[in-house]
Order: sequence, then structure tokens, then C-alpha cells
Amino acid sequence: MKREFFEPVLGIDFGTSNSAAALIDADGQLRVMPLDGLKAAMPTALFFSNETHSTLFGSEAMQAYLSGEEGRLMRAIKSLLGSKLMDEQTVVNGQAISFFDIVVLFFKELKARSEAHLGQPITRAMLGRPVHFVDDDRERDDLAQATLGRAALEAGFTHIDFQLEPIAAAFDFEQRITKETSVLVVDIGGGTSDFTVIKLDPKHRKNTERASDILATTGVHIGGTDFDRLLNLSHVMPLLGYKHIGPSGRLVPNSVFFDLTTWHLIHHAYSRKNMHFARELWTSYADQTLHKRLIDVLEDQQGHRILANVETAKINCSVSHEGAAVDLDFLDRALHPVITPASMGESLAQSLDQVVQCALQCVAASGLASVDVVYLTGGSSALQPLMDALQLAMPQATLMPGDRFGGVAAGLAYAGAVATLELSA
Ligand SMILES: Nc1ncnc2c1ncn2[C@@H]1O[C@H](COP(=O)(O)OP(=O)(O)OP(=O)(O)O)[C@@H](O)[C@H]1O
Ligand SMILES: [Mg+2]
Repeated sequence: MKREFFEPVLGIDFGTSNSAAALIDADGQLRVMPLDGLKAAMPTALFFSNETHSTLFGSEAMQAYLSGEEGRLMRAIKSLLGSKLMDEQTVVNGQAISFFDIVVLFFKELKARSEAHLGQPITRAMLGRPVHFVDDDRERDDLAQATLGRAALEAGFTHIDFQLEPIAAAFDFEQRITKETSVLVVDIGGGTSDFTVIKLDPKHRKNTERASDILATTGVHIGGTDFDRLLNLSHVMPLLGYKHIGPSGRLVPNSVFFDLTTWHLIHHAYSRKNMHFARELWTSYADQTLHKRLIDVLEDQQGHRILANVETAKINCSVSHEGAAVDLDFLDRALHPVITPASMGESLAQSLDQVVQCALQCVAASGLASVDVVYLTGGSSALQPLMDALQLAMPQATLMPGDRFGGVAAGLAYAGAVATLELSA
């Protein structure tokens, strides 16, 4: 049924790695916004080009950066919400800009692309949020949500609401079930792993009050970018001196390797002070080839490229169940570190265990003995060792892979539409 005075609510899944948006249109149909060319998932990335002085977003930002264009790449900006860094200024294109303003720029672009697709202004938004932006710190967690809301308002939205990302994923799954089902929703993204145990029922879809169906939520700040960091530390950084023992029998100081493997800290590694520190490190190395590689990486600012190539190898290994080499040709053609299913399992074991424990805590907190279905969403839910570990931990449940990149945005769109029903009721 077409409604008069229809005001769409844009469901926005602002992800650590990818963002997506969707809404329910005037005909009650789900419309997924093609935010990135024809694709729905847009890398949460901005590139400030020194060459053209323009700002690029999504895949275009990644391509410009990876093609070697001079400029500054920003990724994983969601990880900064709630941190002190948010109000800090950084220099792009010779101008100082705060990280907060960078988030605003991203939201403005997402809004403009959605409006261009829909052909009408959009002022309402249903924003997704992880169960925890920040682990074990309520104040900073509240600050993160407030900052996200402020950024959306500054980008031009006038009405905003929030919904937990795993609950949104559950609402999307609910469109496909035919009978009451108890579900553990597992949303493993780039930055966080979020869990919800929820009673889904096709009869409840139009209810605006769902709190009693939600039996438990848990979340932990571990996701695909952490897996990339760990795989980078175990497979690539040793080639640059991480865990290398110097002539005095001591390990090379490791802060530079942590900066180089964390998306939002990489730039920090290239500061004048840190470069000076890294050059002086040569005395800590027994093998100078490793030190030279470290300096090459820092001077050529190859940290993002290494991390992106580790991520590619991780995905290739996960998909093929075979070893996948990390491309390091730009550094040294002789280097081909290989991520194998076994070495990946080993490097990630501790983190995956934390993720599985968090899933089990969610089921325990729900009061149910077990759930009918484990519904998997988020890009990292495809990680093979993780799926194996979840199935092992919950042998009675059926593991059901869902819409990995669009499910949360779709669920936010449903939540947004139900919220407007409530307003007009
Ligand atoms: N086949 C795959 N196997 C393993 N990991 C994958 C696969 N495909 C994508 N990923 C990982 O999924 C992550 C991105 O997932 P997603 O887009 O769901 O995250 P996000 O929503 O941006 O993050 P978050 O919800 O934590 O803020 C990346 O870390 C990526 O490397
Ligand atoms: Mg997500």
C-alpha cells in the first residue's frame, strides 16, 4: 500500500570495513542503496589525494591509494569513535581536519549517494551500533554512540535513532522464517563480534516493541581487522624484524610493528619522530637485511599495502582451504610468506577462542539450553576456523550462513520502517 507523505528512514550500517544503507520505500519494498558503483557494500575508506586535491570514497579511495597515488588513506574510522583521537586534528592536503570531521564527510557522501539513487531527500536515519563500541568502558561507549549521532546530524540528517547491529541482522533473518525460531545471531565484522539470542517469529514482524523477544546480547571488540593484524604480525612482520633477536640477545623493540599492523595507527609509524627512532634501531638487529626492509617499508609508506595484501591472503586461504601467499613483490620478489589453514588457525586461536566464548556467554545469558539456529552474518563469519570452532561449541545448532554484507543495513531499514509506523500510530 502506498502511503501519503512518505518519509523514508535510511538504515545505515556504518561498518569498520564496509558500510551499507537500505530503506523501505513507499511501496513497502526493501531498497538497498548501491553505494559503491552498483555494489551495496562500500569500503569505509576515504582518500585525500595530494595530486588532485580531491576526496575519494569507498572503492575509489582504495584504488587510488593502491595505485600509488600520493595522498592520505583513512580506514577503520569507526574504531576511533569513543577515543580521544576523535577531536584530534590531522593534516590532509595541507589542511588540518579533525577525525570527527572525516566521519562527517563520510556520512555526507553516503547520504548524497542514497539521495541520488532514491531521487528524493532523506532526513531520517536508523543507525546501527555494535553491542560494544569500546569494551568494559561504559562512558567511552556512550561517547562513541553520541559522537556517531552527532556526525549524522552534522551531515544533514535531522532525525536519528539507533539499533544494535546484531538485532538488525536478526530482523532481516526474520523475513525468511516461517515459524517461531530461537536464534543466536553471530555478526563478525571488521572491528567487532556481536551476538544476540532472540526469539524470532514471523507474527512479530510488525511489532514495534521487541524487547521481550531479545533474550541476551554480548559483544567483544575483535573482528577481521584484528585477524589481519595478527596474521601480519605472525607471517610478515618477522621479515622486518619483529621478534628478531639482536646482537645483545634482546628482542628488537616492537612498537613500530604494532603501529604498522593497525589500520588507524599506520600513519603514526611514518612520523618524523618514529622514523628517526626506527633508523636508530639498526643496532638492535643481528641481520641488517631485516632492518633495511623495515626502513624501506616506512620510507615508501607501504604499511597499508601490506595489510591489504595480508587481508587478501586471509580471505583466499579461508575460501580455498589452501595456502595463500601474501604478495610482497613491491618489497622483495623473493619473499612469499604463505598463510595456510594450519598457520591461520594457530595465529588466530586465542582471538577465535575469545569470540566463541562470547557467543557461549550470550546463549548462557539467554537462559536457553541451546538455540535452534546460529545465523551467521558479517564478512568475517566466513572465516573457516571460526565456523569450525562455533559448530564444535554448539553441536546441536544448525549453522546458517546469511547475507554477510547487506543483512544489517536491511534489518535497520525494517527497524526504521517499524519506528515510523509507531510515530504515525
Ligand atoms: N571470505 C572471507 N573470509 C574471512 N574473512 C572475510 C571474508 N570476506 C570478508 N572478510 C572480512 O570481513 C571483514 C569485513 O566484514 P564486514 O563488512 O561485515 O565488517 P564491518 O561491518 O565493516 O565491521 P563491523 O561490523 O565490525 O564494524 C573484513 O575484515 C574482511 O577481511
Ligand atoms: Mg558490521
